[in-house]
Amino acid sequence: MKTTFNLPQKAGRNGLGAGVWNLGPGTDPFGGPTREAIPILDRLPILAQAGMTYYEAHDVEIPASQVGAARKRAEELGLQCGMYTPSFFADPIFKDGAMTSNDLAIRKLGLKNAMEAIDNAAVLGASTVVFWNGREGFDFVLTKNGQEAFKRLVEGFNLVGQYARERHGTSIRIALEPKPNEPRANMYLATVGEVLYLISRLDPSLQALFGVNPETAHSRIAGLDYLWDVEMCLEAGKLFHIHLNSQDGQRYDQDLPFGYTEPLKDLALLVVLQDAGYENILAFDIKAPRTDEPKNIADIIEVSAQNLVWLWERALAVDRAVIQQLREEKRNTALAGYLGKCLYGR
Ligand code: GLC
Ligand code: MN
Repeated sequence: MKTTFNLPQKAGRNGLGAGVWNLGPGTDPFGGPTREAIPILDRLPILAQAGMTYYEAHDVEIPASQVGAARKRAEELGLQCGMYTPSFFADPIFKDGAMTSNDLAIRKLGLKNAMEAIDNAAVLGASTVVFWNGREGFDFVLTKNGQEAFKRLVEGFNLVGQYARERHGTSIRIALEPKPNEPRANMYLATVGEVLYLISRLDPSLQALFGVNPETAHSRIAGLDYLWDVEMCLEAGKLFHIHLNSQDGQRYDQDLPFGYTEPLKDLALLVVLQDAGYENILAFDIKAPRTDEPKNIADIIEVSAQNLVWLWERALAVDRAVIQQLREEKRNTALAGYLGKCLYGR
């Protein structure tokens, strides 16, 4: 068995995580699978073998009926559930959203699924439940009333938060994951800023349970800087979880290996996380490319993890006093050069 990837001097929880959905059969909107689908629980040993400490899953991947088996399998492998999440996007019933659907019955079903996900997370031992905005949004204007939709989100998350607190105290926290578009043309909770705004509108006594799961590529799809998005979460005390990957410009969601497209910015991101003493899990949301052979399906996980460890070590070696001095000297370009030296230099 491969040893797990670890980050020297990381505060709090160490080890890395990835989603079971990251090891898919290679379907895309234009073509079917290029690999045979691996049964979900059989993906756990692949993640362990690739050096992961944590796995993540949706309720449609590990439903309530499978939770016991998943827990046992993970224990045998020394894997922990890092995060669990209700899918508000896979089932056709949620084609126009769950919490923001115009149909009360569908909103109720979304709420029921959310509550079940909270309980499943507790059984699996996950301390974080993520809500990705998925199909909460619109393709055609005026098909939903935006102010009404926002109110539904506030009401829905208040109910989910109340339920989580009643059943599990503060042991389960909820992290909202923003994305600007895809699968919808326009998605509610498009950015980190919108998520933080939503949290500020929740019942004040529940706000401590809610935070953000920013994804680097999602910020990029929105044309935003993911470093600043993460800094904003840190400033708000709301960086509950993080999804790391890369994105080759503003286009469809690629879920490329972490460290692949913007290594210098990734280096700076790790400097920020180190200095903030980030204690939660670092997880990847990457997609095994459909061109990879079945036997190499975990390459993207190992490549991302190795890139992260190398960049993390380089980030530890970045001399913070040099950054401070260049800031004081107003030498912004020289600071960029210093980061380049830390990344590319000997
Ligand atoms: C979907 C999204 C991903 C999100 C995950 C968890 O797979 O693509 O970004 O993190 O769901 O909800
Ligand atoms: Mn994600």
